[in-house]
Amino acid sequence: MEVKPYASSSKSKREQVEEMFDNIAGNYDFLNHSLTFGIDKIWRKKAIKAAAEKNPATILDIAAGTGDFSILEAKKTSAKITAIDISQKMLNIAVKKAERENLSDRIDFLKADSLDMPFKDNSFEAVTVGFGVRNFSDIPKGLSEIFRVLKPGGRLVVLELSEPPNPVIKAGYSFYFHKVLPFWGKMVSKDGEAYKYLPKSVDNFPYGERFLSLMENAGFKNASLKWLSLGLSAIYIGEKMT
Ligand SMILES: C[S@@+](CC[C@H](N)C(=O)[O-])C[C@H]1O[C@@H](n2cnc3c(N)ncnc32)[C@H](O)[C@@H]1O
Repeated sequence: MEVKPYASSSKSKREQVEEMFDNIAGNYDFLNHSLTFGIDKIWRKKAIKAAAEKNPATILDIAAGTGDFSILEAKKTSAKITAIDISQKMLNIAVKKAERENLSDRIDFLKADSLDMPFKDNSFEAVTVGFGVRNFSDIPKGLSEIFRVLKPGGRLVVLELSEPPNPVIKAGYSFYFHKVLPFWGKMVSKDGEAYKYLPKSVDNFPYGERFLSLMENAGFKNASLKWLSLGLSAIYIGEKMT
């Protein structure tokens, strides 16, 4: 079943996701860090460490949003970063942040869809996607497209939320994600549907071994995953062989 942000809208998932992130862009950073109590920053650092391991000269950051991933990549590596997103309003915030950090010459921000990217085959030495994959309207197509633009020898690193396996933690997570988060998200962003979509999109995401299988089907080798914070999220790594 396809999970979309706005139940009453007849627009495609792709269009609705763009509209939703345009709507919440101004509140995204505040809500993101407060709703995860800042743990998202630790997860991002770990994911970027995995992406930086082979010292890539070029990194494509997909679903860059307000730029936290791309900016940290620019700080932690010497790579040239290309950052794409479908939401122009999220990107506008990212551009300003990069300017403030004096990193504008290190990061190119571009409005583009991960399912149909304006890049030649074998363009990037590493690709990262932080909290973006579950929003793709066609995950297998997105992974094939990533495989296409990744250079042989390059690495894909995906960071994504998941449902924790422990039943007690899962119950707490479920209450927090399905009750507290939509309430707080609606109060701050005024877009109640957006913060109802977030837990639904996590529930619907094929996390764990299922995602590794999708990576392998797209051509990635040595696909592996590392659970974070008792399974609240995971880092997925795959290589494109030479
Ligand atoms: C939850 S935000 C994550 C932003 C950022 N990576 C971070 O770590 O905070 C998800 C982002 O994915 C973008 N997105 C969703 N589908 C996309 C697609 N098909 N192509 C590119 N970006 C997409 C959204 O516009 C949104 O900015």
